[in-house]
Amino acid sequence: MHFIIAIDGPSASGKSTVSRKVAESLGYVHVDSGAIYRALTWQIIRDSLAGALPEAIVRHLPSVVMRFFVEEGAIRFAINDVDPGTAIRSLAVQEQVSAVAAIPEVRAWVGERLRSLTTFGDLVVEGRDIGTVVFPEAAFKFYLDADPEERARRRYREQQDLAGDEMNPDEVKRALLRRDACDLARSTAPLAMAPGACRIETTHLAIEDVVAQIVSIVRSSPQHRITKAIERDGFNPFAYHFSRVFFLCYLWVFHRYATHGLEHVPREGGCILVSNHASFLDPIAVCCDIWNRHVYFLARDTLFKQSRFMKWWAIAVGTLPIDRTKGDIRALKGTINLVRQGNMLCLFPEGTRTRNGRLQPVKAGIGFLIEKAGVPVIPAYVSGTFEAFPRDARWIKPRKITTYFGKPVTPADCAVFKGDPERHQKIADLVMARIAALDPAGISI
Ligand code: DC
Repeated sequence: MHFIIAIDGPSASGKSTVSRKVAESLGYVHVDSGAIYRALTWQIIRDSLAGALPEAIVRHLPSVVMRFFVEEGAIRFAINDVDPGTAIRSLAVQEQVSAVAAIPEVRAWVGERLRSLTTFGDLVVEGRDIGTVVFPEAAFKFYLDADPEERARRRYREQQDLAGDEMNPDEVKRALLRRDACDLARSTAPLAMAPGACRIETTHLAIEDVVAQIVSIVRSSPQHRITKAIERDGFNPFAYHFSRVFFLCYLWVFHRYATHGLEHVPREGGCILVSNHASFLDPIAVCCDIWNRHVYFLARDTLFKQSRFMKWWAIAVGTLPIDRTKGDIRALKGTINLVRQGNMLCLFPEGTRTRNGRLQPVKAGIGFLIEKAGVPVIPAYVSGTFEAFPRDARWIKPRKITTYFGKPVTPADCAVFKGDPERHQKIADLVMARIAALDPAGISI
């Protein structure tokens, strides 16, 4: 899965420098979408179509070919096999670009190319409509702004670094305001803040502070932490399967382990396994007999700090770190994407191991997660682990352990509660009732 960070805002709001530095800090690829509009405008001028009617420009689009590649952490391109370099920042391009960018077909043409860039990995994309139109599904959206005086000062300083075009500060400001007006007023994809975007006012902030703010928001998001933990820190399918077979043999030999209802566990597609929780033996009792697919678990991140081996093993087998101090819901939200992407996640809705062998009440949070994930939920009941190794026990007893899997609770079952303000609690209770119904002794509640 690739992350997109959308950074939108008016000219000279600090977007470019900030986006470049954010990409650098996070190891993402930087995309300057304005540069693509500029390059196209440059090509149009080159092909003697400056000031031409929009129809003529649209007719010309199929003859323009852009080729993209990554260099030093940023997307670079050639347009009709030529690298236009700094010519895309010239006055001539500057004067034409807003008119070109206002043509709906041009926007669709650029949008299509921007979306194709996800093949290069995680992206920080800067522009005007990235969070609203190009990547409305972006995981993170920011809107940078600054007052016009400050933006004009910044643009003037930038221009001074570019040899060739001479503009005085007033001209720079006028050109900037003209472009703002064009970007705001155009009918297709005008400059706008995306719903849910985080607005950062940069007038009195140093670039480093804006970058630090964005990087910290992204890094501390549970969704980002969890996905990166899986991708980077060495999830190892071999370690998972080796551990699974090892524990399966242990359960067979020591606990006469058996499972019932495995046919209810989907062979593919996103789903959530939910089980009662009585013992540290539960995670292995739930997953060891599921041969054909990987089961992800959540664990307190303190587990990862116990020893270097423990950290390596927990990550290798695909355990996802959860920071319990930040609140369960926030931590759990990060896992929604994991199941939406087709993975199986095992949760213990009760949160902690039972003290008396009975099922414990559950919080609404689990219902919220199930509703948001929109995938089947498979109830599982593990019996015998409380007798074998309860809380506070020092030794494991060789008691029989059996895991029962039940028919999935489907998104349609949960939809019955739609519109009910208590629906998350009701979904959580429904799931627990399905777990309880699997207890052959019928005495778990
Ligand atoms: O960010 P910039 O100044 O390089 O952008 C150049 C032009 O392209 C500017 O007039 C706005 C336009 N643009 C746009 O319409 N949509 C984007 N996503 C990026 C830039």
